[in-house]
Amino acid sequence: MTETVLKWHGHACFDVTTAGSKIIIDPFLTGNPKADIKKEDVKADIVLVTHAHSDHLGDAVEIALKNDATLVTMVELGWTLQEKHSDLKVHAINYSGTVRIGKISITAVNALHTSSLDGQYAGNPMGLVFGDKFKIYHAGDTGVFGDMELIRDLYHPEVSLLPIGGYYTMHVKEATLAASLLKSKYTIPMHYNTFDAIKSDPNLFKSEVEKTGNSTVIIAEVGKEIRFDESGKRLD
Ligand code: NI
Ligand code: MN
Repeated sequence: MTETVLKWHGHACFDVTTAGSKIIIDPFLTGNPKADIKKEDVKADIVLVTHAHSDHLGDAVEIALKNDATLVTMVELGWTLQEKHSDLKVHAINYSGTVRIGKISITAVNALHTSSLDGQYAGNPMGLVFGDKFKIYHAGDTGVFGDMELIRDLYHPEVSLLPIGGYYTMHVKEATLAASLLKSKYTIPMHYNTFDAIKSDPNLFKSEVEKTGNSTVIIAEVGKEIRFDESGKRLD
C-alpha cells in the first residue's frame, strides 16, 4: 500500500510524496514569513506552478534546475521560463490538458484570477489536479466558480487545497461554497495569514464547511506531515 504524504510550507506551498514521486507546488519560500524550509532544502521530481505571481512562482525555477525536476505550468509562462533558462525541463500545458510524469498525471483546470510577470501578461492562471489514483486539487489563487462541479465530476479529488484569505482570492464564505461544489473527502485551507491583507480564521472555515456535511476540513500546520492511505483515508 502506497501512502500519500502532504506537507504545508506556508501560503500556497505544499510538497506531496505520492506514487514514488516528490512534488512541490507553488514554492514561495524565499520571502515567505511562514515558510519552514529554504529552497536549498527542497528535493523534488516535479515542480508545479499555478501562475506567475511572485508568491506562487517563488523559487520554482531554481528548485527545478537544482533537482533536474520537470516544471509544469501554463503555456505562456512555461515558454517564457524556457526562453530564459534553456536547461529547464518544462511541460507547458493548458486547460483540460494532462501531462503524465512517471505515475503522476497533472491536469490544468480553471482558476478565476489573473497572472503577470514583471508587469507583463504571463498566461492565464490555473488550478491543478494531480496524483496517481489518489488525486489532489490545488486551486491556486481563485475566486469561487460554478465549474468547480466539473472538477469534481471529472477528477474526483480526494483532497482539495483552497485559498481562504480573501482580498486576492476566496474568503471563508466563498471557499465554503467551493468545498460544497467539490465535495472532496478532505479540504485543506491555504493562502491565509501570511500577510495582513489575507487574514482569515481556519477554524471558522472548518465549522462552516463541516456544517454542510460536504467535506472534512484538515487545518494544516506548517511543516507537519498529513498522511493518507491508498484508499484515501487519513492516517494518524
Ligand atoms: Ni496570484
Ligand atoms: Mn497569491
